[in-house]
Amino acid sequence: MKLLVVCLGNICRSPMAEGALRARIEASPLAGRVQIDSCGTGDWHEGEPPDRRAIACARGHGVDISGLRARPLQASDYTAFDVLLCADLQNLKDVRRRAPADSTAKSVLLMEWAGAGAGMAIPDPYTGDHDHFEEVWRMVDSAAQAVVEKLLREGP
Ligand code: 4NP
Repeated sequence: MKLLVVCLGNICRSPMAEGALRARIEASPLAGRVQIDSCGTGDWHEGEPPDRRAIACARGHGVDISGLRARPLQASDYTAFDVLLCADLQNLKDVRRRAPADSTAKSVLLMEWAGAGAGMAIPDPYTGDHDHFEEVWRMVDSAAQAVVEKLLREGP
């Protein structure tokens, strides 16, 4: 199974979610069976590592995301991945609007897909402070645990 996390810039929320998901999956019986990537609906930060606050926050929770590099969403993602896990409703709208005719991927909200509640968005921490990044980590890590349980229950 292939999962792609999508946010706006691909330097805060989606690389944090990618790191949390990879760590939780590799520590589970699903290790080696689920591929994770992330991207942004915008391309302003293409090629850049995650925001230093996102790197520091993840590191504080034992996950190294410093090697990730931002990239924009591309048409081939809609057939290369099974599920496009969006951080907020605007990301989901943009992802659905840009879907090519041959798209096979399912587009959802990450938190909703993880069972955290209908319409639940991950707030953008870019203009926020340390606490906002910690809040994002809490959300994406709880979602990552829930995704592992979901895939173990329903099969990848
Ligand atoms: P992200 O946060 O979507 O969680 O990566 C943002 C990063 C950069 C910008 C906006 C949001 N930006 O406008 O550059």
